[in-house]
Amino acid sequence: MIKVDFDFAGVCLNQDLQTCEKEMLLAHELIMNANGEGNDFLGWRDLPLQIENLLEIKNVAKKIREDNEILVVIGIGGSYLGARAVIEALSGAFESLKPKKESPLVLYAGENLSEDYMADLLGILQTRDFSLCVISKSGTTTEPAIAFRILKKALEEKYGKDKAKNRIVAITDKSKGVLRGLANENGYKTFDIKDDIGGRFSVLTPVGLLPVAVAGYDIEALMQGAREMREVLINDKSMSNPAWQYAAFRNILYNKGKKIEVFLTYLPALQYLSRWWQQLFGESEGKNGKGLFPVCLLNTTDLHSMGQYIQEGERIMFETVLQVKNNNKKVDIPYDQENKDGLNYLLSHSLNQINKIALKATQQAHIEGGVPQMRIEVEKIEEKTLGAVLYFFEFACALSAYALKVNPFNQPGVEAYKNNMFKLLGKI
Ligand code: PA5
Repeated sequence: MIKVDFDFAGVCLNQDLQTCEKEMLLAHELIMNANGEGNDFLGWRDLPLQIENLLEIKNVAKKIREDNEILVVIGIGGSYLGARAVIEALSGAFESLKPKKESPLVLYAGENLSEDYMADLLGILQTRDFSLCVISKSGTTTEPAIAFRILKKALEEKYGKDKAKNRIVAITDKSKGVLRGLANENGYKTFDIKDDIGGRFSVLTPVGLLPVAVAGYDIEALMQGAREMREVLINDKSMSNPAWQYAAFRNILYNKGKKIEVFLTYLPALQYLSRWWQQLFGESEGKNGKGLFPVCLLNTTDLHSMGQYIQEGERIMFETVLQVKNNNKKVDIPYDQENKDGLNYLLSHSLNQINKIALKATQQAHIEGGVPQMRIEVEKIEEKTLGAVLYFFEFACALSAYALKVNPFNQPGVEAYKNNMFKLLGKI
């Protein structure tokens, strides 16, 4: 289902991968036996098996779909990136411009503090039917809390206080936090985020699944893909396990002086999947003065901005390419009798083939330039493969962080800016 391929460019040898086997086995056992640091946050590991609440999620999504043109998902970090990654991967590029939509448009708030953004969103919501899905595990995060206060007021002004309550779904801790208090007091529909699941590992809970279902996508297929991937990853205790390979490769290169991992895709639809990956690895590994710095780029767009640096700048990076074998739609390059642009030589190729040739050409150039590359290949973009990709990276991330000897599941460093902000705002 997922194939991992390497081009070591002389930096790392197959032999290195074999020496990692012991390290990977150790990390694997820490995940499976729940005896590593942060072992009270391993709930994500078995989520693909827990499908009993899918029906309730689908029912709530159905009601939202019937009554709304827009669903605003309010959340930040792990509380919105997973849903956005899946929705944007599956939606057409210009979904929001389609005059007649089959599903509500999912928009996002609370993931930034821009006043202009909020004003624009409020403007759009004035003329559309909308509901809110507010997501915060702690229930106290400032950005989504502010967005919720503003958007709840807009909702109440439009529908009246009583009706507005039925247009709010809160996804939060079962008992703690301000959001839980508000939800209980006002009787919002709620879903719980379990204690043992952290934000960036929560995409396969209602946090990711409800918005994805509202957008009209098949959450059962998403879970099935994750389940099939889980079977492979938990049972294969050898270097043929693709998550072992990926985690080992990252750590070998890190120990050889590579400090940056560039995550590359060639499809604009995967930009938010890249950002989800970036948060997953950045927040899980970047601690105790350690960790690869995860960067995501979109080619061929970024070949014209970062290509020069990657080819000839500091040799501190390697690339991980998420490669998709088949595209879902087709566009012909037209024949032009005059051929003044000289492009008729391309006619035997589809646009997708040309994109793949760009990938191959870049790969060759970068490897020759001293940038090792790993490719993770999936058949095509659909719910099932996305479920597999999400679970693959979660498992690989936990393995990789344990091999690095950091706790994958905490994020103590995020508190520093929050405390400063509260001081500056006069809260403390
Ligand atoms: O991965 C994480 O735990 C974080 O990125 C959180 O998702 C993010 O900080 C938002 O937190 P909360 O859901 O508590 O509002």
